[in-house]
Amino acid sequence: MENYPFGSGRPDPGSFPNRKLGEAAMRILPEMGDELALYPGMLGYQPLRQVMADRLLQREGVAPPVEEIALTNGSMQAVTLMAQMFIDQPGDGVVMEEFCYSGTIGAYQKEGAELVGIPVDEHGMRMDALSDVLKKRAAKGKLPKFIYVLATFQNPTGAIMPLERRRELLQITAQYALPVVEDHCYADTVYEGDYYVPALYTLPAEVPVVHIESLSKILGPGVRLGCFFTPQPLLGKILQIRRDGGTSSLAAAVVYEYFREHLWTHVHRINAIVKQKRDAMFEMLGQFPDAFEWFSRPKGGLFIWVKLPDATDVVKCEQVAEARGIDYATGKAFHVFRRDVPYLRLAFGYASLEQIRAGIPKLAECVIETQR
Ligand SMILES: Cc1ncc(COP(=O)(O)O)c(C=O)c1O
Repeated sequence: MENYPFGSGRPDPGSFPNRKLGEAAMRILPEMGDELALYPGMLGYQPLRQVMADRLLQREGVAPPVEEIALTNGSMQAVTLMAQMFIDQPGDGVVMEEFCYSGTIGAYQKEGAELVGIPVDEHGMRMDALSDVLKKRAAKGKLPKFIYVLATFQNPTGAIMPLERRRELLQITAQYALPVVEDHCYADTVYEGDYYVPALYTLPAEVPVVHIESLSKILGPGVRLGCFFTPQPLLGKILQIRRDGGTSSLAAAVVYEYFREHLWTHVHRINAIVKQKRDAMFEMLGQFPDAFEWFSRPKGGLFIWVKLPDATDVVKCEQVAEARGIDYATGKAFHVFRRDVPYLRLAFGYASLEQIRAGIPKLAECVIETQR
């Protein structure tokens, strides 16, 4: 039984606006005419795309044209589509952070890509390492097909890539004509007001940048809504390989009707709740310095990337923790080559404050008991 759910990156369950979404559905569905009798089209329900554009404008100061935004079934669909777009044959390379979202690692492996992991530090993907890898690969005629990057609240490390490094990334990719895929699904889960680094798509670039957003982290993964955008002609090419008939207009309309008035109040409300949980988790981790060190103190996102003592038997630790009802994500799941690294990722959004306060001491026991 899972008593301490620190495994996956879900928002606070109590803050899901069931009633408000129900009221939104009652308002909008009767007004939709025959729209639900039609396929949504490859871009999807226009009013929600407009809300997405307004959200980007407010956050980034620059919004893409609404006709360049495509709704997707969660952001994961967009993440996967990018491999289908750029990977022509098995073994084509994709550059990503050495520690990267496990879902992307799995999806890109399934699409036959060779994963090229670039070391990270507390500021995200390291540009010296990226430059070296691309230089060597160019010399061998084995340049990767695209770069997938989590520049803001990187999953799992929580790192934010500083502006100068973002500019450098775009310069390096321009040198090798590599498209950039920017997965930005945590950009609105912010707990400290001084965070702001512009998204890559807002910066001057000589290569195409595909930007991906999600509603899973600010609303809930059950709504399965996300979007991506990029200028033509690349957008048209990506849409051509899409084979799902489009994203649910029903879900999009209900969320539009709720978000058109409540987007930012909702985001600020849930961030305040999740911030308390992040703070509680750090407070608890700090009580067990023999078991835990953390990579950084993220100002946003839903995770803490925790370093365990080197002598930890990470496989045994997971087994012991599981038997005691503690769920977390192993470091191995986020390593591009699935190495047994002495790390784990703790998600703090979904668990209650009580579960955090009771579960972290139990996890510390598991770590301490499984030293070799
Ligand atoms: C970096 C990253 N990208 C994409 C996703 C997929 O999210 P969804 O498909 O629910 O939008 C996740 C989910 O955890 C994630 O962490």
